[in-house]
Amino acid sequence: MEQKQTLKIGVLASGGGTNFQAIIDAIEARTIKCAELSVLICNKKDAFAIERAKKHNIPHILLEQEKGEKREDYDRRIIKALQSHNVALVILAGFMRIISHLLVESYPNRIMNIHPALLPSFPGLDVQQKALEYGVKFSGCTVHFVDKGVDTGPIIIQAAVPVLNDDTVDTLSARILKKEHQLYPEAIRLFSEGRLSVEGRRVIIKDADENEDTITNPPIK
Ligand code: GAR
Repeated sequence: MEQKQTLKIGVLASGGGTNFQAIIDAIEARTIKCAELSVLICNKKDAFAIERAKKHNIPHILLEQEKGEKREDYDRRIIKALQSHNVALVILAGFMRIISHLLVESYPNRIMNIHPALLPSFPGLDVQQKALEYGVKFSGCTVHFVDKGVDTGPIIIQAAVPVLNDDTVDTLSARILKKEHQLYPEAIRLFSEGRLSVEGRRVIIKDADENEDTITNPPIK
């Protein structure tokens, strides 16, 4: 069943914003129908994500953490910015900060993050390197709701990619990132259609279509 009201999305990013771009493209192509990007909030002034927002006429706000500013105080400014744009869903798209309980509590099960590994394996940073060092044969990406832990929230969808013999951090990261660009818009589409519900740690996808499984279980070439 489609959600009739337009879902207002706020994106938090720190860097290049290729995931942000994938979401822009999916909304412009109407793959995600009932949603709009209401604001981009960036914590880095040279983040290329800002250029992407400008190009697509998406309001953007640069919010740098001030010297000595506490995490909670910084997050209070984020919450204010999100509320002033009536944001209902917050998307962390390469936002390289740990967010405070304050922000999580303001948007319970309404903040999504994408992580470049198959959680609960390899939470934290430098995870493509950790996957290579561990010797896993598959890695991938995970979209999850954000809870008070780091990369611990209920998993929405995941996609696997093979780890190849001659992979470097760069080649594996590129393979995962390509998959991220499919996965994140898909998770947002499901949310925007009102099809996600959280039961304990499990995210239930209403009316899941077997065909949608092609993203999470890609054929190995
Ligand atoms: C992505 O690979 C994303 O999964 C990762 O940062 C990259 C951002 O790329 N996020 C994290 O590691 C969060 N802990 P992008 O700016 O091109 O979307």
